[in-house]
Amino acid sequence: MSERKAPMIIDNVEIARQKEIARRIRANNDVEQLRTGKQKRMHVITFGCQQNNSDSEKIMGLLAEMGYTNTDIKEMADVIIINTCCVRENAELKLYGNIGALKRLKADNPSLIIGVCGCMMQQEHAVEMIRKKYRHVDIIFGTHNIYKLPELMERSIGEKYTLIDILNTEGMIIEDIPVLREEKFKAWVTIMYGCNNFCSYCIVPHVRGRERSRKPEDIIREIEDLAKDGCKEVTLLGQNVNSYGKDLNMDVDFADIIRMVNEIEGIERIRFMTSHPKDISDKLISTMRDCKKVCEQLHLPFQAGSNKILRRMNRKYTKEEYLNKILKAKQEIPGVALSTDVIVGFPGETDEDFEETLDVLKRVEFDQVFMFIYSKRIGTSAAEMEDTATYEDKHRNFERLVKLQNEISKKLNDAYMDRCVEVLAEGNSKNDPLKYTGRTRTGKVVNFTGVEGIIGKLVNVKINEIHSWFLNGEMVNEVKE
Ligand code: SAH
Ligand code: SF4
Ligand code: F3S
Repeated sequence: MSERKAPMIIDNVEIARQKEIARRIRANNDVEQLRTGKQKRMHVITFGCQQNNSDSEKIMGLLAEMGYTNTDIKEMADVIIINTCCVRENAELKLYGNIGALKRLKADNPSLIIGVCGCMMQQEHAVEMIRKKYRHVDIIFGTHNIYKLPELMERSIGEKYTLIDILNTEGMIIEDIPVLREEKFKAWVTIMYGCNNFCSYCIVPHVRGRERSRKPEDIIREIEDLAKDGCKEVTLLGQNVNSYGKDLNMDVDFADIIRMVNEIEGIERIRFMTSHPKDISDKLISTMRDCKKVCEQLHLPFQAGSNKILRRMNRKYTKEEYLNKILKAKQEIPGVALSTDVIVGFPGETDEDFEETLDVLKRVEFDQVFMFIYSKRIGTSAAEMEDTATYEDKHRNFERLVKLQNEISKKLNDAYMDRCVEVLAEGNSKNDPLKYTGRTRTGKVVNFTGVEGIIGKLVNVKINEIHSWFLNGEMVNEVKE
């Protein structure tokens, strides 16, 4: 994380240059394919959040332009890209294991290109570690210069040393990077990049830069194209979607975007994440209520129940304010499914503070809680705070949280028994290929018996079996759209 520079201008000439390089690589790949009869293949490994998934779809889109097709088998790949996350230490440790394991593949196939990119590469210490210890990596790039992949690929061919290209500033939003989506019926659509909040524990603003919103017309055009291609469900993405538009010189906010997406023919479901409790407005809640396509689902991370800890986390709301927002959402959006993120063991959190976190869980009754043990991140302000609680203390509290939430989730899931729910049939079930799988509007996974030809359609399913993490059922009929 070195000093920031002024935003970089990436103009159309630069993009055209990258496209030209992609065409050259494709031509070479085509020639080689004719000679060897072997298709060129890519394998992209993604860690972290939906933002990284969405970036990986761009990486795959660029590689597809260069003539690579997807493979699930690493051993068959001609190019392997690992898109990294550094939000917690265990994400980093997993990465080093994965890169280490690729050394053997590179030894067997020296022409294999290995690239490492994403959030972790925006940190100097991580880049240094890879440069020194994992010399079989060919290319390192960051979160702000994905568009440059064609050039990096071309330069890396025949190069002995690791090519490192990291931008320490957030560049502009580049609209015409090709995207290769793995799923047809649902899509992640990034509406804004970066974060301005600087929660004291969080590395994201340091590696993703400041908030930048895409223009409404670009977002709408992308979703219209998706709808024409058969997409039914979109999830609008941003680290804090409620800040959408603040950096644009336009009179438009996130609720306005939702209203515009709600009008797009063919789109049946709208989801979004993540909302910050300090910014969730009455206008957004009433928009959720009024727009038929917005799913009854709200992910609203509260992180900690104690006001002292919330202050130290720089979250800018109190427990009481949070509970009021939840109450409002429950009143306005009947049947809303709530989910949240919680951090256990933030520096200075006592058992008494932790009781407040349990209290929020009991009062709200979330459908799902994503729980994390605090992980110290170099460069964040919390890394300077004294942390005296032991790993055992944190683990004990974590287990209490898991136990309480399991009981609540079970209770909420039980209420689905014998109910008829709308499910978007997304594919065949992994556990039982004769069954189908999909999600309810509230985000619950449902495996069900159905009839041929329903994949990609909305169906009504009667629930007949409850499990902790999914529901089983049988299809009743297709939903008339
Ligand atoms: N922008 C989103 C998501 C941020 S990262 C938001 O604000 O909600 C996803 C989650 O990871 C966070 O909500 C937080 O619960 C967790 N997290 C972030 N930094 C962490 C850290 N240093 N240690 C443990 N958990 C962390
Ligand atoms: Fe991290 Fe806070 Fe920004 Fe979320 S809102 S990305 S937790 S700094
Ligand atoms: Fe991880 Fe980067 Fe997302 S740090 S959580 S992949 S924004």
